Amino acid sequence: MKRETVIVIDFGGQYNQLVARRVRECNVYCEIYSYKTDIEQIKAMNPKGIILTGGPNSCYEEDSPSCTRELFELGIPVLGLCYGAQLMMHVLGGKVEKAPVREYGKTIVKVNTESRLFQGIEEETTCWMSHFDYISKVAPGFEICASTDNCPVAAAQNPDRQLYAIQFHPEVLHTVRGKEILSNYVYNVCHCSGDWKMDSFVEQSIRAIREKVGDGKVLCALSGGVDSSVAAVLLSKAVGKQLTCVFVDHGLLRKNEGDEVEAVFGPEGPYDLNFIRVNAQERYYKKLAGVTEPEAKRKIIGEEFIRVFEEEAKKIGAVDYLVQGTIYPDVVESGLGGESAVIKSHHNVGGLPDYVDFKEIIEPLRDLFKDEVRKVGLELGIPEYLVFRQPFPGPGLGIRIIGEVTAEKVRIVQDADAIYREEIAKAGLDKEINQYFAALTNMRSVGVMGDERTYDYAVALRAVKTIDFMTAESAEIPYEVLNKVMNRIINEVKGVNRVFYDLTSKPPGTIEFE
Ligand code: XMP
Repeated sequence: MKRETVIVIDFGGQYNQLVARRVRECNVYCEIYSYKTDIEQIKAMNPKGIILTGGPNSCYEEDSPSCTRELFELGIPVLGLCYGAQLMMHVLGGKVEKAPVREYGKTIVKVNTESRLFQGIEEETTCWMSHFDYISKVAPGFEICASTDNCPVAAAQNPDRQLYAIQFHPEVLHTVRGKEILSNYVYNVCHCSGDWKMDSFVEQSIRAIREKVGDGKVLCALSGGVDSSVAAVLLSKAVGKQLTCVFVDHGLLRKNEGDEVEAVFGPEGPYDLNFIRVNAQERYYKKLAGVTEPEAKRKIIGEEFIRVFEEEAKKIGAVDYLVQGTIYPDVVESGLGGESAVIKSHHNVGGLPDYVDFKEIIEPLRDLFKDEVRKVGLELGIPEYLVFRQPFPGPGLGIRIIGEVTAEKVRIVQDADAIYREEIAKAGLDKEINQYFAALTNMRSVGVMGDERTYDYAVALRAVKTIDFMTAESAEIPYEVLNKVMNRIINEVKGVNRVFYDLTSKPPGTIEFE
């Protein structure tokens, strides 16, 4: 079934995935395409609406990203945001110039509430501005429908042609009524019906997977993370025992994590699937012995995963499909949609196995943002602690132990991390901190415990607040909580005599230590 779609045309701005997410929050499916996408392809998609995003350029310069006039003549409603708004004016005969003052931050905007975009919104509201060019003259046929003190054209419209331009960023939460403005666009202007809902996504996916797989065999590498867990449960609901999940315990998981994954997906758990747990700890520790360089460790862990997985796959024999937990930001960031190609190749555990005998890949979550994956997980009845699990890197504790990885160091970091997580949850901070963990430095120092001199390791605690994990701030954890964690770690974890809290933001630091 073809769903109604709004498309976002990406001009390279930083909030572009956010625009698509906000549209989807209005229950309208939305995809991102580069501004270089051919107009014929856009026509063939027959979208209900088109949104042009912000971007870092000046539309009046020669080499700047642009679009054809035809885009505005398709009879499809178009909404331009920031750069997109300026471009719409520029292409249609208005004027865009360098602004006398750059406008940045929260600003009061006065809107015309008779505009379809601003129905139900107060005449004065707060919006988020970030621009150095401004629209000094609207294109013929347009009227101004919002303005700020510094920006005469904060929004303009040509309702007859269904064209709308907004200088500010409705997708950013600082724009207080941004969500309503986008909702007004998709419902009042594009007349969408709002058919993008996670319960129907689940139903449709299960049906589609069944149809595709038939009586074929399916293989899934389960990591216990949100994406692979949700993909596995979706597949198991669709094809039951035709699915085999291989879970490789590389000995670099958090404390008890291997058993927790087994409890959910193993034979005692609620799902109908074949579950294989491979306890490969020793193998990994042997390979990692003596290796200290971070990239070398990552490489070994990734490659070893492939080897283990291949060995298991050989035992199973030929399968028809291999499941991957790819999600929409992976698709966009690998350059397949949109402009903001941030390649995170080092984040993949190690690519695809070469020697697994399969015909095709199934990526059931390929169209979903992370928050949608979580909703699907809840819809499927997956336990909340799994659905809301914080991100955990593929190479696991291997990159949270600075220097050589040994079984003993894994034990130390697992125990310290378990205490830290327990105390953060007890303090009620687990929902507001986006990622937090203990790492083991390779620093040993002199201490004193009882009457004895110690020469032990230092544990570093990390906690960050972030939206996209590309930039992050260290979280302000109350001193009492940190103090308690420090006390417990030193008393309960043998081999540790110092605890540090990492204050570094990203940049210049990264979230992980290696
Ligand atoms: P950094 O350390 O790059 O981390 O600031 C950003 C986010 O990515 C996660 N991360 C990884 N995830 N494989 C993964 O699957 C990796 O190699 C990897 N390295 C970092 C990290 O936990 C954080 O959420």
